[in-house]
Amino acid sequence: MTYLLALDQGTSSSRAIVFDARGHIVAMAQREFRQIYPQPGWVEHDALEIWDSQLATAREALAKANLKAADIKALGITNQRETTVVWNRKTGQPVYHAIVWQDRRAEPVCARLREQGHGPLVQGKTGLVIDAYFSGTKLKWILDHVPQAREQAERGELAFGTVDSWLVWRLSNGEVHATDVSNASRTMLFNVHENRWDQELLELLDIPASVLPAVYPSAHEYGRVAAEHLGGPITIGGIAGDQQSALFGQACFKAGMAKNTYGTGCFMLMHTGSRFQTSANGLITTSAAQASSSPEFALEGSVFIGGAVVQWLRDGLQAIKGSSEVQSLAESVPDAGGVMFVPAFTGLGAPYWKAEARGAIVGLTRGSTVAHIARAALESIAFQSAALLQAMSRDAVAAGGAPVSELRVDGGACVNNLLMQFQADLLGIPVVRPQVIETTALGAAYLAGLSTGVYSGLEELGDHWRAERRFMPTMARERAMELIAGWEKAVRQACAD
Ligand code: G3P
Repeated sequence: MTYLLALDQGTSSSRAIVFDARGHIVAMAQREFRQIYPQPGWVEHDALEIWDSQLATAREALAKANLKAADIKALGITNQRETTVVWNRKTGQPVYHAIVWQDRRAEPVCARLREQGHGPLVQGKTGLVIDAYFSGTKLKWILDHVPQAREQAERGELAFGTVDSWLVWRLSNGEVHATDVSNASRTMLFNVHENRWDQELLELLDIPASVLPAVYPSAHEYGRVAAEHLGGPITIGGIAGDQQSALFGQACFKAGMAKNTYGTGCFMLMHTGSRFQTSANGLITTSAAQASSSPEFALEGSVFIGGAVVQWLRDGLQAIKGSSEVQSLAESVPDAGGVMFVPAFTGLGAPYWKAEARGAIVGLTRGSTVAHIARAALESIAFQSAALLQAMSRDAVAAGGAPVSELRVDGGACVNNLLMQFQADLLGIPVVRPQVIETTALGAAYLAGLSTGVYSGLEELGDHWRAERRFMPTMARERAMELIAGWEKAVRQACAD
């Protein structure tokens, strides 16, 4: 039997999953680690805790599977993207906490860049909008604010990486300093057309090239895990940022194929093939996971508050005791009774981009109950995702393609049948849940298997993908459009001063 080990380093936990070559889960381990909030808008992780928790889960998963390093053909890494680590090459110690993707401290630098008119240059080269979300300005912040950091960087003593690079460097005992194209594309420093760091962008942000990792395709033999960590060497055969990895694990390899991951937030990506397409509808362009050195792209949109709205029902409103209660509460009423919930707790992302919007519950009547609010909360996840898909389809059609014809789903909340059915009803296309919903980790395992000859190519992987359930739209289109119009009205109310 051939086995692959995926390390899935996420925002709130580190996970490790052993897969067999058919993509079935053999064993899994998970550990949470500290979220550090030094001041409003700042979010940090301790990079050493990330490393310790990740290594512990890898060991635990192997032990649960009753396997040794020698039984694992290759290891793949997938990771929370944009989170920025800078460490000393000699000591291996981070010079500062990891600055997490959610952290907004680099906004003043971004505002300046926008004012100076650099938006089109950045978008043209990287596919991104100038935003503190991406790694480049977080790296700049560390070099500008941590004592001695810039001098050390200029002397070539420091290394920068997103979490994948940090883990590879640690796993290989400092032998390999590398990343893949999908992670590099999230830095705002990477030319995605040419798959290389961009000198002009490095100068714009004042980043010395000496800190940067080497960049390779996502399926690539990066090096080996030093024997001491997992009881023997293992080839590191693949790396991809978690959302691109999920797109890959969902076997969305061709232009027009799309997936939505329902987590704390939702991330929707549509493959656009070898075509770099900028969005006219508020989406960003990103490198897809790449099995070869030819650039491949995706359009991406994210919903900031997805499953997090259920946490708010639990912790904020105290309407439910546990998240799993939400489905039964929402199902206790036939519909939301005209209630619309816009969970713009931290503003609204794509395609609205309204940072100043705040949450709103509208359409309340004397007959409204907490069940209607719970149902509206759940439906808000689908409404926000529908707005993203509409934007994607508009972009696809503008580029001469077809609208998205089916949506593959994954992530924790995709097990909620009510939500998935409502999603299909709103979209008017099938929503398809695969047998393996751990598609983020699966994508990394597939990439590792591709580079080490476990798989012959993408076609074989596409044949592995199996639907567990297809949610077909049953609602009349007029009704769906009426609901969407009601949602858009509620969004306008949430955005009003
Ligand atoms: O861009 C951020 C994203 O990669 C985070 O994903 O699943 O760790 O919240 P997740």
